Amino acid sequence: MGVQCGTTYPQALIMLSYRHSYHAGNFADVLKHIVQVAIIEYLKKKDKPFTVHDTHAGAGSYTIASDHMQKTGEYRDGIARLLDNRTGVGVIDQYVALVKKLNPVGKLTEYPGSPLISASLLREQDRLQCSELHSTDFELLQRRFADDKRVRVEKLDAWQGFKAMLPPQHRRGLVLIDPSYEMEADYLGLLPALQMAMERFSTATYAIWYPVLDRNRTESFIRRFVKAEIPNMLRVECCPRPDASGRGMTGSGMLIVNPPYTLAQHMAQAMPVLKNALCEPNGHTLVRELTGEA
Ligand SMILES: C[S@@+](CC[C@H](N)C(=O)[O-])C[C@H]1O[C@@H](n2cnc3c(N)ncnc32)[C@H](O)[C@@H]1O
Repeated sequence: MGVQCGTTYPQALIMLSYRHSYHAGNFADVLKHIVQVAIIEYLKKKDKPFTVHDTHAGAGSYTIASDHMQKTGEYRDGIARLLDNRTGVGVIDQYVALVKKLNPVGKLTEYPGSPLISASLLREQDRLQCSELHSTDFELLQRRFADDKRVRVEKLDAWQGFKAMLPPQHRRGLVLIDPSYEMEADYLGLLPALQMAMERFSTATYAIWYPVLDRNRTESFIRRFVKAEIPNMLRVECCPRPDASGRGMTGSGMLIVNPPYTLAQHMAQAMPVLKNALCEPNGHTLVRELTGEA
C-alpha cells in the first residue's frame, strides 16, 4: 500500500482503538517525554517565542487510579522507577521534577501526557497546537485547555493538522510526532508527511517516536529516512527487553531531525541511567547521529 504525501483518510474510515490511557507513563513515554522536555528547555534558552506542534496529542493527562492505568500497570515499569532518586543527569532530573511538580500531593496520582508537559513548560509568549482524532481524548484535551489562550486544540488527522497549522506564527519550534502505529499507513505515511511539514516549517526540530516490535521492521522504517537524505538526524532508543518479534513492544525510540546540538551528549549521559532503571539485564540502549547512511 503506498501512501502519498499528504494522503489523509476520511475520519469515518479511521478505526481508532488505541487509547493512550492504558500505556501512559510506561518506558516508552519516559524516553519520549525526556526528549520532549530536553528540546523545550533548549528552546527556552532564548527569549524569542516558539511553538510546539503535537500531532497525536492524546488526552493530555492520565489518572493513575483509573481502570485503564491499573489494568496494565505499565507505568510501574516506567515513570514509577525514576521517581525516588535524583540521577544527576540533567535531562532526566528535569523531566522527573516536572512530573513531581504536577503531583503536588507528594505521590504519583496523574501522569502528564505530551500536551500537558509542553503547556507546563511554555512561557507566556510561546504556543502549543495539538491535533487529536479520537473523540473522547479530543474532548478531554479540549476541556483541559479551554482557558489557556496559548493552546490550540483541533480534532484533525495529524497530517491534515500540518496543512491547517504549519507554519506557525513563530519560526522556532518543536514538532512532536507520536502515532499509535495502529495502521500500516502510520509507518508508510510518516516520511512523506515529515517532508511536507519540513517544507512548511524547515527551522523546527522534529521528534518522531517509534516502537520496536520487530527489529527488521524498525530498521527498514529508519532506513527510509536515511535514504531520503533527511539531514541532521539523531536516533535514540531504549529497549528494556531483547529484540523478539511477536512478543509485543520490546523497546522504543525517537528519531530527532534538527536536534539541539547538545541533545546527543545529554542523551548519551542519560542512557546508562535509563538502562539501569528500566531495562532487563539483556536490554539495550542506543544513541546515534545519522548522516546519510544508517
Ligand atoms: C501514542 S498516543 C499519543 C500520546 C501523547 N502524544 C503523549 O505522549 O501523551 C497516539 C494518539 O494519536 C491519536 N491518533 C491516532 N491516529 C491519529 C491521526 N491520524 N491523527 C491524529 N491523532 C491520531 C490516538 O487517538 C492517540 O490518542
